[in-house]
Amino acid sequence: MPKKLFIRTYGCQMNVYDSARMADVLAPLGYHAAQEVDEADMVIVNTCHIREHASEKVFSELGRLRDLKAARAAAGQGLIIAVAGCVAQAEGKEIMARAPYVDIVLGPQTYHRLPEMVARASRAGGRVLDTDFPAEAKFDHLPEPTAQGPSAFLSVQEGCDKFCTFCVVPYTRGAEYSRPAAAILAEARALIAGGACEITLLGQNVNGYHGDSPDGGHWGLGRLIRALAELPGLARLRYTTSHPRDLDDDLIAAHGEVPQLMPFLHLPVQSGSDRILAAMNRQHTAAEYLRLVERLRAARPDLALSSDFIVGFPGESDRDFEDSLALVRAVGFAQSYSFKYSPRPGTPAAALEQQVPDAVKEERLAAFHALIGEQSAAFNRACLGRSFDVLLERPGRRDGQLIGRSPYMQSVFVEAPAAMLNTVRRLRITDTHPNSLAGTLIESEA
Ligand code: SAH
Ligand code: SF4
Ligand code: F3S
Repeated sequence: MPKKLFIRTYGCQMNVYDSARMADVLAPLGYHAAQEVDEADMVIVNTCHIREHASEKVFSELGRLRDLKAARAAAGQGLIIAVAGCVAQAEGKEIMARAPYVDIVLGPQTYHRLPEMVARASRAGGRVLDTDFPAEAKFDHLPEPTAQGPSAFLSVQEGCDKFCTFCVVPYTRGAEYSRPAAAILAEARALIAGGACEITLLGQNVNGYHGDSPDGGHWGLGRLIRALAELPGLARLRYTTSHPRDLDDDLIAAHGEVPQLMPFLHLPVQSGSDRILAAMNRQHTAAEYLRLVERLRAARPDLALSSDFIVGFPGESDRDFEDSLALVRAVGFAQSYSFKYSPRPGTPAAALEQQVPDAVKEERLAAFHALIGEQSAAFNRACLGRSFDVLLERPGRRDGQLIGRSPYMQSVFVEAPAAMLNTVRRLRITDTHPNSLAGTLIESEA
């Protein structure tokens, strides 16, 4: 009997990828995507534990689902509630205890076992907690992915061994693991056959990739990218998220040599102060980061960069914060994300003295936003009159309008027929806004 599945996804792109794969795993059981949570027979909340704010959302979401489940029960119907992702991994037992209406709690490494978990949960009272890091590789047990639109995610690496002192990821996602290149190439072919023309390679520390290669050796990310670029029909490649320490010469060179590799790189730095970088266990200095940026730009002069910053890490002084602003000015980012430091249970930084008061974090965050907002607006303004290739991804709000993505990740609005969806077109940028661009088709090539 057909059933409906609704997945709510929080957190990073890895979670977006995992959610799609969970849907793939459950499809043979008759589950199809529900448009609204109200019509679902099963709901999965795929959670993120990165900051306190992200975790809190999970429990309020679960409260709403408890009410939905109660309403269903009153009508003699069922609802399976599953909690997946990084909160499930970190706080699985607590969720089982606090939320008795939750049927399944599963970590990011066990979702290939979902069919079995659903079968157990469907039997009266059968609740399941599965947050193992199983010996068998999850990826070997997943069905072929279904491409969803022209731009697809592909996980090539999982987990992280860097242990930045503020971060939960090494605990929730476990040790670094790289998928074999052959499996990645096969998945990429399936995605392209399903209509994808852009693939974003994912990993918590994606440029730490070192997978088995078809010739019996190992490939780094640069080599993998070169192999993927040879697949017919693949117009664009991206990868995220990278650690500055693992950006090797071959990957830097690939930026200059592989035309499919888009000239945009998210390279988190977290702080511009060497003292704070050391306390964060980032294993690089501000000068080393700037040097990497220089080398990347030498390889690919039009490369645009984005980054993540944490403000108010324990012990961060005004001077340290000034160093972060100075690094932002020195690089000139196309985009950046900044977060107030959030103490996470079990991480070394949470136990540090000299926690920064929230009011100071707020003030620094505002100053930061102002500066990076200025930079990204300036980056967009500088695109006026330029022409570039845009992947037309989805219909706009107005009839006859499509929305695409520039090589630099900007949203671009254009008047174009719906038949051009899912294709790359050359546009001239005619108008710029702080967060988007507008363009017109260049006729000769349209
Ligand atoms: N693997 C990636 C991304 C990790 S999480 C990397 O190495 O950068 C995404 C971002 O969340 C991080 O880059 C960091 O800026 C932010 N973040 C992680 N833990 C945090 C915490 N405890 N408080 C505030 N921001 C945090
Ligand atoms: Fe977290 Fe650092 Fe690993 Fe990124 S590199 S996932 S910030 S521990
Ligand atoms: Fe969040 Fe886990 Fe991703 S904590 S950012 S969902 S790896």
